[in-house]
Amino acid sequence: MPPTISVSDRPLAEAAADALVVGVFAPPTGQRADPVDPSPAAGRVAAALEIDLVAELGAAGFDGSVGSVSVLANRGRLTAPTTIVVGLGARNELGHRALCRAAAAAAKAAVERHRHLAVDLPGDETGMAVEAAAHAVAEGLLLGAYRFDTYRSEPRPVALEVADLHVTAEAEAAERGVKRARATAGGAMVARDLVNVPPQDKRPPELADRAVALVDGLPIDVRVFDEEALADGGYGGILGVGQGSSSPPRLVELRYRPADARKHVALIGKGITFDTGGLSLKPSASMETMKSDMAGAATVLGAIRAVAELGLPIEVTALLALAENMPSGSATRVSDVLRMKDGTTVEVINTDAEGRLVLGDAIAHAVELEPDVVVDVATLTGAAVVALGDRIGVVIANDDALAEELVGAGTATGEPLWRLPLARDEYGERVEGNIADLKNAGDRKAGTIFGALFLARFVPEAMSWAHLDVAGTAWADEAYGEYAKGGTGVPVRTLLRWLDAR
Ligand code: BES
Ligand code: MN
Ligand code: ZN
Repeated sequence: MPPTISVSDRPLAEAAADALVVGVFAPPTGQRADPVDPSPAAGRVAAALEIDLVAELGAAGFDGSVGSVSVLANRGRLTAPTTIVVGLGARNELGHRALCRAAAAAAKAAVERHRHLAVDLPGDETGMAVEAAAHAVAEGLLLGAYRFDTYRSEPRPVALEVADLHVTAEAEAAERGVKRARATAGGAMVARDLVNVPPQDKRPPELADRAVALVDGLPIDVRVFDEEALADGGYGGILGVGQGSSSPPRLVELRYRPADARKHVALIGKGITFDTGGLSLKPSASMETMKSDMAGAATVLGAIRAVAELGLPIEVTALLALAENMPSGSATRVSDVLRMKDGTTVEVINTDAEGRLVLGDAIAHAVELEPDVVVDVATLTGAAVVALGDRIGVVIANDDALAEELVGAGTATGEPLWRLPLARDEYGERVEGNIADLKNAGDRKAGTIFGALFLARFVPEAMSWAHLDVAGTAWADEAYGEYAKGGTGVPVRTLLRWLDAR
């Protein structure tokens, strides 16, 4: 269970908690020789403990960089026995990203040791609004405490149950920030959980059921297209990818339509519950993390769930294109031609380029709903990992303003995105098929752009569209920042920040 987060306006020093959490700033960038710069709350703790905090931290090699941690013994001088000091980074660089990471570091340090944390909410000295600061801190605490232990016979011990955010003013604004964090971190954790579930327990029909259950009680209308409905509707891409599996594909449509909606956004997620590559079989090492190939679907589910929880005034449709990509006697062959939802025909050059096939159908479905904007999220190409690694995602868009908005939201959130060109003039022809309209794979050059150019053929010229290739960022090979090893829940929070600003 994630810790329960509350707001308290009582003084931090009097908190009857197991540990206090206070922040310390790093010296401004380029001036690392200066001593660290304690927040007012850290200063009060140091006074109560009668220690020279800056000297002690300096001696311990603590530099105040984001997420650094130092633990102090309170020696009976405060009600709480321990203080966790976390680095906030440079004061002039503080924002959601740094504060969230700092809080996550505190949660990681505390999760197995302390039941009850009393956390100072950095105040006026940060320049951040109370609501935004509370959002960042609560989100970091929740994400840092994240565990996925349901499959262990002995779950790792979790001590952390309660965290109080101590504020000196504006408790109501802090409450609003905490509420927002429950939704944003909740959405990210739904995505993490689903990515971490082993593929045997999330084959398409079961993942569809899980998605439906996860929006239960929210104002979201649900439709699930089973294999029969997909055949009736002509979803040849989703069916073609799924036909090698003994578990049939699904398309899940989730719609949140508030009365005060300003715009309609369609979010489309790649949901390959396991990607073996199909007959174009992947080598074993490349298959190891392929239970994460449904991260796009998990992301759009986590996002629409949070949008509905927060009651944002924007219409959102989420489409989860679910299939298992398996080799078998019934699998799509290399050079088979599929007929997609919108009538486009596609030659399957490589059955491992399956994401674009399920997404093409889902985009065609979305277009019929006439949204203002379409954003698809997909672990689409290994080339995206080669280009930007596993901590920066790719955005490709047909709309400069949209690309800029998404990059901005990603930077602020701490889920960076970098734009690549769609390059229609340069490479647009490369998706033309030999005997059909399109082919699903080209040569090794510009693989990420090829994927986007393929998807672009399902988007009308005038419709605003962005493609997020999160092949690198949806999965963490090791824990870092607010992430645990495994599913990251990226880019749920970026989408939420972007939707909230629309
Ligand atoms: N799911 C993979 C992409 C992927 C790679 C995601 C590494 C996460 C980490 C996708 O379906 C795929 O196999 N893409 C191929 C496309 C190629 C055959 C044109 C790739 O990138 O090699
Ligand atoms: Mn593949
Ligand atoms: Zn894939």
